[in-house]
Amino acid sequence: MSEPLTFPAGFRWGTATASYQIEGAVGEGGRGVSIWDTFAATPGTITDGSSGAVADDHYHRYAEDVGLMAELGTGTYRFSFAWPRLQPTGSGALNPEGVAFYDRLLDELHGRGIAPWATLYHWDLPQTLEDAGGWPARDTAARFADYAVAVHARFADRVPDWTTHNEPWCSAFRGYAGGQHAPGRREPGAAVHAAHHLMLGHGMAVQAMRAARPDLRYGITLNLYPTDPATDSAADADAARRVDGICNRLFLDPLLRGAYPADVLDDVAPAAGRDFVQAGDEELIAQPLDVLGVNYYSRHVVRARTGPDDEGRGDTGWVGAEQVVKVGTGRPRTHMGWEIDPDGLVDVLGYVSTRYDAPPLYVTENGAAFDDVVSEDGAVHDPERTAYLDGHFRAALRAIACGVDLRGYFVWSLLDNFEWAFGYTRRFGLVHVDYDTQRRTVKDSGRGYARVTAANAVPADR
Ligand code: FCB
Repeated sequence: MSEPLTFPAGFRWGTATASYQIEGAVGEGGRGVSIWDTFAATPGTITDGSSGAVADDHYHRYAEDVGLMAELGTGTYRFSFAWPRLQPTGSGALNPEGVAFYDRLLDELHGRGIAPWATLYHWDLPQTLEDAGGWPARDTAARFADYAVAVHARFADRVPDWTTHNEPWCSAFRGYAGGQHAPGRREPGAAVHAAHHLMLGHGMAVQAMRAARPDLRYGITLNLYPTDPATDSAADADAARRVDGICNRLFLDPLLRGAYPADVLDDVAPAAGRDFVQAGDEELIAQPLDVLGVNYYSRHVVRARTGPDDEGRGDTGWVGAEQVVKVGTGRPRTHMGWEIDPDGLVDVLGYVSTRYDAPPLYVTENGAAFDDVVSEDGAVHDPERTAYLDGHFRAALRAIACGVDLRGYFVWSLLDNFEWAFGYTRRFGLVHVDYDTQRRTVKDSGRGYARVTAANAVPADR
């Protein structure tokens, strides 16, 4: 039998979640209202009319959930702090009951030998701050930095890895341009301003946290997409340049090169103007990073719109790329409709490593939604997810073999959960959740994942 394909020693295996998607208990422990509470209460926003009000009830069941992590061999757990639980109105002293919840969670994690990896912002902005203008308002960056500093001061002794934002592209462009996510605004110019203020808040937060505790690790997580033109025409090449610009380079360039890409600023100028970037902002954003998190789900293949009769569809979040159309490549799709493309992971990690002087990389999210059911035998048989993960783990190994400094891998997600605008209709978990009973069942893919984490390897033969 051939030898298993082994990951580098010390490779960090994890699972990921986000506060609003799992915690529930939105009215408990002094938590304030977030933009997702407000958005989900607005008719027509969530596919099944649901909200995160109960979700996985993780606020009460965290101990059981940490037990499941241990069962899966999760060495590191990527979770997010709920800003409205810690600062109910987005400023001021931390809410003691919110602090106590995360202390209990951290006690449990440390008790099981699981390393916590904290994200400060996974989309649950306090509603008070949205009422004051939200991310398009420059002051929100300063509010975020204050929040980050306060949370970091309280938990730095117990959390070694700090991520500022999860997927600022989604916060900005799904939230303020496309309107599919909270707060549901459709103002492309404001979305660009939001993106800048998210980045500014990141820079301010990292600078202050590192000054307080230079011994810890700081980073950010981006959703990045390999972006290819459908043909070799000049028009399609320009379409790909625009989408790569708004999805990837708008974030990577200021973080890792200290300046926004000029072509992307030109693309967004008709919507956003140019004054939103002030002197000194780019230097502030370009804080040294210890880690860059990459969330990878699928690739973009795009072409230019051919004319008014072209029925192809783009993405309302592609500001400055309004004339660009998405192209399917015929690969099988997940329940999200996303094409399954493990080579895209090799490509995106290679893109970051070769184009930038990047810090160590982590896949901070990768996973798949399938329509899972509990079978009569009591198990959840999800061979598609097992195959999906296996394919992507092998892709990660190929990237490492090509020289990518990839240090870890977090599967999205530990549990089935509230999948934003899709409500509870999309299941990403390694663990199935029955929302009527809150019963958790480890899926077959979760058991497969446990074998991978235990061996730090995938079998040579599939
Ligand atoms: C990412 C989000 C995460 C989850 C997955 C499926 O964009 O960060 O919360 O919704 O997609």
